[in-house]
Amino acid sequence: MPTYSLITFGCQMNEHDSARMREVLEAAHYLPASAPTTADLVVLNTCSVREKAEHKLRSEVGRLGRLKRRRPGLLIVVAGCVAQQEGERILGTLPQIDLVLGPDNIRELPELLAALEAGGPPRVRTEFDLDSPQFLRARPVPGQTAPTAYVTVMKGCDERCSFCIVPRTRGPERYRPSQEIMAEIAGLVGAGVREVTVLGQTVNSYRDPERLLQPAVSRRPWRHTPEARLREDESEFSALLREIATTNPGLVRLRYMSPHPRHLTWSLIEAHHELKPLARHLHLPVQSGSDRVLRRMVRRHTVAEYEERVGALRGAVPGLTLSTDIIVGFPGETEEDFAETLELVNRIRPTGLFGFKYSPRPHTPALRLGDEIPETEKRARLSRLFALSEQLRQAHLASLVGSTVGVLVEGPGEREGYVGRTERNEIVHFGAVDDPTGQVLQVRVTEAFKNSLAGVLLDPARAAPIARARTTEPRARHDLPVIP
Ligand code: 5AD
Repeated sequence: MPTYSLITFGCQMNEHDSARMREVLEAAHYLPASAPTTADLVVLNTCSVREKAEHKLRSEVGRLGRLKRRRPGLLIVVAGCVAQQEGERILGTLPQIDLVLGPDNIRELPELLAALEAGGPPRVRTEFDLDSPQFLRARPVPGQTAPTAYVTVMKGCDERCSFCIVPRTRGPERYRPSQEIMAEIAGLVGAGVREVTVLGQTVNSYRDPERLLQPAVSRRPWRHTPEARLREDESEFSALLREIATTNPGLVRLRYMSPHPRHLTWSLIEAHHELKPLARHLHLPVQSGSDRVLRRMVRRHTVAEYEERVGALRGAVPGLTLSTDIIVGFPGETEEDFAETLELVNRIRPTGLFGFKYSPRPHTPALRLGDEIPETEKRARLSRLFALSEQLRQAHLASLVGSTVGVLVEGPGEREGYVGRTERNEIVHFGAVDDPTGQVLQVRVTEAFKNSLAGVLLDPARAAPIARARTTEPRARHDLPVIP
């Protein structure tokens, strides 16, 4: 039987798409290869959110091209956002590639591969499923399924952030029927999943296309958002979360990503207050702390609106931790604008911060702004931002030493012991005599590292020592928050 290897770049949505591609390939009798160099088929699931991510694809295709000269039967597929963005052009610049596959065409993979195996010519399939959107469902296997899973509830993006390629690579917003979402989650929980992360490019703009949800409307005013804009805010996302949390008693944690600040509604804040499984952590990208820059980014919110909503959420959920995304060196960003970003970070004190140098993307409106910031200045601003966020993270992790935290165990650590996460998204390493994967255990925190904690199980009968908890730390799960 033919073997495949799948290499994933980018965000959680891409990880999710890769998991679905694996299922589609295995249903078509492909087997996972023991190494990419021995595979009959290599699928590169790509990211185009920043130029660096695109460079990675080119070097990977170069490497595979050399392999293909030795093994002409090797099939190379480029999937994901670069595929969607570049379409036919990829075949022109990278002739080693056999198939260019957009994110909405995953289901067609087996028949496209069969045509290639029969000697057919290279193909490009990058059609958005605008008329009847498809959401591939996970096929969990009890006993083999990880305790955490992603579930897509919407795809595409109707925002028009001027720096962002995603509306082009993922198309307009399309929502998944709530019944289909509920059925997928029930299946996952039945197979042992304990934590679900609900995914979508602007996940909290969700609306149920079948109108089965009872939208929670809470019309309390915001001080900083004009009345006229409030109507746009009311999505049905909080109703969806409520439905998920209340009908799945086996689900111990619920997360979502990535929300847009303008859809962080009162009803969503109330859901955070009331729904026990909803994690006490939120990833809420802000991008800049300067209103002038936010306007040029077309973010559709101000700094004051962002802070008012974060403040309200923290009022409703004491101790909630926040993470965010920031772009430095956006066209025209002055030293004063950047200083305002540092001040905002100091005020909101995120425990996770994903900082990026602005990267000009094809077809995006920001290209027309001009006023490029020199690379050296972008780099200098990014390192100042990271120095501050490191300091905030260290202070937060150090403050937890000596406390007891509930950890959902995700599995064995990279070197020894086990690793899991708290509801506030801190990573915790500990030793155990038996495999506690999928359980929520109480751990006393003994040590803080750069990105994680170590501790001992509170139950002495189950605790085991670990010599050296960490030398290499796991990649943060939101290395590239959705979404991308
Ligand atoms: N340049 C730099 N960073 C970007 N992001 C999106 N587009 C760009 C770009 N052109 C960042 C944003 C987003 C995260 C996923 O990637 O911060 O929230």
